[in-house]
Amino acid sequence: MDNKEALAALAERCGACENCSLCKTRTNVVFGRGGENAKLLFIGEAPGENEDKTGLPFVGAAGKLLDKYLDYAEIGEDEYYIANILKCRPPHNRDPLPEEEDACMPFLREQLSILKPKIIVCLGRISAMRIIDPEFRITKQHGVWFENNGVKIMAVYHPAALLRDPRKKEEMLLDFKKIREEMKSL
Ligand code: URA
Repeated sequence: MDNKEALAALAERCGACENCSLCKTRTNVVFGRGGENAKLLFIGEAPGENEDKTGLPFVGAAGKLLDKYLDYAEIGEDEYYIANILKCRPPHNRDPLPEEEDACMPFLREQLSILKPKIIVCLGRISAMRIIDPEFRITKQHGVWFENNGVKIMAVYHPAALLRDPRKKEEMLLDFKKIREEMKSL
């Protein structure tokens, strides 16, 4: 089975998931999108309203802003895959509950074992706390490379945080410059 088939099979299982109560309020499961052979994986937090409606991650305002940084870093559509910690939208976009993350993480772990990315970029604090360190401090540690089993991992600000505080945009550009350099070195 190639990556495309493996991801499609996993997406089908994920689409039928009832492992937490978010299955009762979701419109669509938001599994992930992007290049099935991508070496770069972005991990966000959870779907918002537009993602819940469309079934695709990062298609709302935060996603549009993220697209600008991807353009800046010259990262093409097939060069990255994007998914979230939670595959279903929490009502009113509240933070994910620990039990929801626990219920959903096996899907992300399976996505990781299929994709085997060389670079992981966590979008925002919630993702960084789950993937890098429960004590992660996004204001201090964004843009810093970590390494785990030969995989380079970095967290950047969540694009929605930039919409709230545009002063962070300069730091985001610097972080994406580092991502571009790492991609070029692969
Ligand atoms: N914010 C996220 O963390 N994920 C999405 O898919 C959309 C907005």
